[in-house]
This record gives sequence, C-alpha cells and structure tokens, in this order.
Amino acid sequence: MRLIMLGAPGAGKGTQAAKLAVAYNIPHISTGDIFRANIKGGTELGKKAKGYMDAGQLVPDELVCDLVADRIAQEDCTEGFILDGFPRTIPQAEALDAALEKMGLKMDAAVNVDVPDENIIERMGGRRACLKCGATYHMVYAKPQTEGICDKCGSELVLREDDKPETVKTRLGVYHEQTQPLIDYYEKAGILKTVDGTQSLEAVFEGIKAMLG
Ligand code: AP5
Ligand code: MG
Repeated sequence: MRLIMLGAPGAGKGTQAAKLAVAYNIPHISTGDIFRANIKGGTELGKKAKGYMDAGQLVPDELVCDLVADRIAQEDCTEGFILDGFPRTIPQAEALDAALEKMGLKMDAAVNVDVPDENIIERMGGRRACLKCGATYHMVYAKPQTEGICDKCGSELVLREDDKPETVKTRLGVYHEQTQPLIDYYEKAGILKTVDGTQSLEAVFEGIKAMLG
C-alpha cells in the first residue's frame, strides 16, 4: 500500500499515519520529522531548513524532493509506505510522480484528513511532540502515560517551535495557498479519499481503513 496523507497543519496526518504504518506494516515517512531530526542533530540539511520551518514557511522544493525519492527507493519501502507532509506543492507532486514512474510504481491513495481552520489552532496549542522519534501527543486528546515523556522512546516532549498561534496562522495560509491545490491534483488522478478529521482519533482511523479496503 502506497499512501499520501494530505491535510492542513494539525489535521492529524502524523497521528493517523503512525497508526496506519502499524496496521499495514509499512514505513511512516514524515518530511517534517526528518527535518526536525536534522535540526536537532545540527546537520547541514537541518541548518538550511530551520529558518523556514520556524517561520511557518515551506522548505524549498529542491531540499525535499530528492530526499523523498531516495527514501522511497530504500529496501523497507518495497511493500509500500506512507508519505506524511509530502508532497506539499504541485512541483513536489510532479517530482514524486516522476520518481515513481522510474520505479514502475504508482500511489494507491491520497487520504485528505479534512479539518476546518477553526479546530486547528486549539489542537496545536495542546500538541506535544517527541523530537527524537517523531511521536505526537495531545494534552487532552492523546495523553502520554507519564506527563512530558514519550511513551515510545522515553525522551522529553516539547511544544514545537512552529506551534505558537501566530506561526500556526502563517502555516494555515501557506497550506491554503500552496498545498490545498493538491486535493484537485489527486482528485483528477482518481486516488483522492476524504475523511472527516474532526471526529475522534479512533473514528478517523476506522474511516480511513474502511475507505482503503
Ligand atoms: P510538518 O511536520 O509536516 O507539519 P504540518 O503539515 O504543519 O503538520 P503537523 O505535523 O503540524 O500536523 P499533523 O497533520 O501531522 O497533525 P498531528 O497528527 O500532529 O511540517 C513542519 C514544517 O516542515 C513545515 O511547515 C515546513 O516548513 C517543513 N516541511 C515539511 N515537509 C515539507 C515539504 N514537503 N515541503 C516543504 N516544507 C516541508 O495532530 C495535531 C494535534 O492534534 C496532535 O496533538 C494530535 O494528538 C491531535 N489530534 C490529531 N487527531 C485528532 C483528533 N481526531 N481529535 C483530537 N485531537 C487530534
Ligand atoms: Mg505531523
């Protein structure tokens, strides 16, 4: 199964992608997590990405397209993979199509987790993230077992730098302008599936699995 998770910042792409990765036993590839791990590790890529991310802007396409093309060519992706946060622009979607075509592959579905802007800001303020393993929590809706500590790897949970309300507003604007056109793109490709992302975590998950069959 080769899946794309589409949706606004905070729609629940990462939350659902993590659950789907377990259910279908395929890797969860989050470009945001890859950049955050690089920033934490002080790599060249991290240094290049940090300013854009902290400002709520997209990292330039050229920093992300080759990275994803390389990642999906790795051995653990032969049975499929879930892309979370990529593609985010039409040029990225075209680069993905070109990379897949070279491999003789196609995406199976693009899942649009649909959440209106009003719900997003509240969700983001309560989110806590693990910068080590990428796990995501919410202070009300998805609490860790021990406050402030990642269930999966024991690291400290943090409020992401870009989750401040002002930056969230910028990210929403960037989403509507640059990423939302992908909904049409995948509708035209005949692989778009839309789920109501305002439901509970479990209901969204069941809805996606039912659509994927
Ligand atoms: P990225 O990390 O991808 O951030 P994003 O798209 O803004 O999405 P988020 O991770 O914020 O939200 P999500 O949809 O994963 O929601 P989550 O599951 O956490 O990208 C960050 C930055 O990196 C970008 O701004 C850009 O700079 C750069 N970047 C990354 N990829 C790029 C690319 N391809 N091109 C260019 N730049 C790129 O859920 C949110 C919260 O809500 C959580 O607390 C969760 O517990 C809670 N929640 C989830 N579902 C529910 C529910 N059903 N009910 C109640 N609460 C819920
Ligand atoms: Mg995410």
